[in-house]
Amino acid sequence: MFEAGLKCVDCHSPQTGFVQRPNGETCAGCHDPNYAKLLNGWKEEFTTSLAQVDSLLHSAGELNFPDLDQVKKQVERIEKDHSLGVHNHAMIDGMLRSDRDWLTKFVNEHGLNVNRAMPAANP
Ligand code: HEC
Ligand code: HEC
Repeated sequence: MFEAGLKCVDCHSPQTGFVQRPNGETCAGCHDPNYAKLLNGWKEEFTTSLAQVDSLLHSAGELNFPDLDQVKKQVERIEKDHSLGVHNHAMIDGMLRSDRDWLTKFVNEHGLNVNRAMPAANP
């Protein structure tokens, strides 16, 4: 959408001029009403994928591997955007999927089975 020249205000302050949190109605202002559902689907998908990645990161713990650091940084950037993946759904969805696949492999290779992993006790 950004490629089509959409600006922040097109979603964040249409009409009102106030900064707002866009919702399904915002999308429906330019698209057909089904886009409200699309938006909710994206948000759910994002929340699920992020929860899976977080749980895998938890299992991976503090092991020191450059590739693991890369994945952690990427996940941090995705979280910092705070748009629940909406700003660039296709790209963020793809990133989370590849992070999840990589982490699953990592956790298995290092014997850090997700099911066995318990939150580390605080020292
Ligand atoms: C296609 C519509 C759209 C455009 C264009 C868009 N956003 Fe968003 N933005 C959203 C949606 C949807 C959310 C998530 C709202 C929610 O939390 O449910 C969001 C969330 C955010 C948040 C997080 C708000 C919060 O309460 O945590 C920020 C910050 C933000 N956008 C900034 C921007 C900026 C800066 C731009 C321009 C570069 C931009 N947005 C362009 C739709 C858009
Ligand atoms: C101010 C008008 C406007 C608003 C608001 C808007 N869009 Fe769009 N959207 C566009 C334009 C323009 C395009 C690019 C032309 C096209 O592909 O039809 C587009 C393209 C899209 C596409 C096609 C693929 C892509 O990403 O380029 C999707 C999916 C989409 N929008 C979803 C949404 C969702 C979800 C929301 C609500 C968060 C939203 N749009 C809000 C104008 C808008």
